[in-house]
Amino acid sequence: MPLYEPGLAQLIRTQQAEGRLRFTDRPEVALEGAQIVFIAVGTPTGPTGEADLTYVRQAAREIAGCARGPLLVVNKSTVPVETADLVERIIKGNGNAADFRVASNPEFLREGSAIGDFMHPDRIVIGASDPHAVAMLRELYAPLGAPVHVVDIHTAEMIKYAANAFLATKISFINEIANLCAAVDADIDGVVAGIGADARIGRTYLEPGLGFGGSCLPKDVAALAMVARAHAIEPTMLEATLSVNRRQVTHAIRLIEDLLGGDVCEKEIAVAGLAFKAGTDDIRESPAMVLVEALITRGASVTAYDPIAQRHARRVLRDRVRFATSVYDACASAHALVIASDDRLFAQLDWPRIARTLAAGNVVDLRNRLDPAVVRQAGLTYAGVGRNRKEIFAS
Ligand code: UDX
Repeated sequence: MPLYEPGLAQLIRTQQAEGRLRFTDRPEVALEGAQIVFIAVGTPTGPTGEADLTYVRQAAREIAGCARGPLLVVNKSTVPVETADLVERIIKGNGNAADFRVASNPEFLREGSAIGDFMHPDRIVIGASDPHAVAMLRELYAPLGAPVHVVDIHTAEMIKYAANAFLATKISFINEIANLCAAVDADIDGVVAGIGADARIGRTYLEPGLGFGGSCLPKDVAALAMVARAHAIEPTMLEATLSVNRRQVTHAIRLIEDLLGGDVCEKEIAVAGLAFKAGTDDIRESPAMVLVEALITRGASVTAYDPIAQRHARRVLRDRVRFATSVYDACASAHALVIASDDRLFAQLDWPRIARTLAAGNVVDLRNRLDPAVVRQAGLTYAGVGRNRKEIFAS
């Protein structure tokens, strides 16, 4: 697997062994006898923030070059609104007389839980104007038993971007509120529980921390902002979401500096977690990696540990940090332990052992996943994101 995804290697092995899945790098072999073809290629961010559609175009050209019978071309890649039109133009402009239909079918999978998200989706979105295309996709997804939203192609493309932009906006919103909580000595956990109990607001995507990363949220919000600008609409909300997100690492640095008496220069910092979130080895746009770079720039010496992303991180950070074999190893002679990803492993650490290992007993929890009382009981100083120090005595 090019990326670590729980259960995926096994799933692919089983499907291959049972003859339902084959791999080929020859499009004519892949398309032989196919009624539906999915375009599921990467759409990385181009130099000016727009989605780079090189691979989508290439796939469309290859399909147009070798399709023989009637074919439904379904775009699953995250592409800006109006890209299905481009795919249609490429395919139909190729001179191939085969009967092509184009549809959009965005996916909402999260890394780390992609298989479960696929098998139990909240909804299936089908963007198509052709009733036959809609019927084919309905039939294909029928075994999943999920609600199906049939819309036009532009609306389907917009749903994907609007969903990711909204999730990103929730995260930036709660990060801003967490920073405010820290300033006025309120507690973000109480605020999240209090507002999350309101059914209109909900509890999900309100976990404050280091900001959102990964290959989707940052890229998609930036790409949607580009689409807005191209249509002379100022993307005020989207820009604010991105700008709060960028600043969250600066807030984290300030938190670490405060705990260490004002400066990280020449301090030894242990950073636990380098992936953009738990359960993946993906470090693309990882706020933890941005944090490590910022600490190094400020003169800190960093020892890093991640249970699965270390191999990828090593390629980027090289010898600018020391890589540890465990969190305990990372803590040796460090002035602070910084928890930078939400890996469950970090919530279950042996805190008395950490207290004995650290040179100065500071723990900075940038994902609010630790129990502050347990950490403090071990004699350590704890700081989280917008968590205050008041003990609550519930009656
Ligand atoms: C996202 C979308 O959730 C998914 O629907 C889409 O198909 C692809 O993009 P993914 O990139 O796997 O999925 O990550 P996600 O679990 O959404 O988390 C994104 C980032 O936000 C991570 O860095 C995560 O740590 C952060 N996050 C998430 C928060 O900081 N707080 C939260 O409450 C939730």
